[in-house]
Amino acid sequence: MTKRVAILISGGGSNMVRLVESMTGDHPARAALVLSNDPDAGGLKKAAEMGVPVAAVDHRPFKSDRAAFEAALREPLDAAEPDIICLAGFMRILTPDFINAYQGRMLNIHPSLLPKYRGLHTHARALEAGEAEHGCTVHEVTAALDDGPILGQARIAVEPGDTPDTLAARVLGMEHRLYPAVLRRFAEGNREPVEL
Ligand code: GRF
Repeated sequence: MTKRVAILISGGGSNMVRLVESMTGDHPARAALVLSNDPDAGGLKKAAEMGVPVAAVDHRPFKSDRAAFEAALREPLDAAEPDIICLAGFMRILTPDFINAYQGRMLNIHPSLLPKYRGLHTHARALEAGEAEHGCTVHEVTAALDDGPILGQARIAVEPGDTPDTLAARVLGMEHRLYPAVLRRFAEGNREPVEL
């Protein structure tokens, strides 16, 4: 039975594009929905052009009422009947209630070698710390931010003269390889971590 995948984005959706492109042929999953908290997210147009159903729930009218926003977000999400949810550049913090509703089948990609550098500005922080290597992690989403069982990691060497932007660009290129590899393995029921 083909697994249905919903992908949540907030911006350009470069990871989403690679995930959608990877779900072809004998891949056990297909994209069922691309959903954003920003109706103007560039990734929504890209998804529609790839023939994937799209939806958006603007988080701004809900102001600080996260529960109300998430209740609205869950309407199109649950209507898509996803087996797997991929957070891909989704920049809203999710409440434990939301996460509990999907725990065990919700993945996220984070631009660091977790457990190092949870949170934001990971590339600048890795450079400031003088790290020799850096990278990205796909993990199951649990209530603790950027935590949860690791399902894959990709490593790169930090190069002399690297800036946060040059490092981010090389890490993003690895994200685009790692996330599709992890999604396929996860959709096959295999939770052996992918190492790139
Ligand atoms: C990427 O750096 C990713 O690590 C983080 O969001 C950023 C943008 O991702 N999760 P995308 O281009 O919108 O997929």
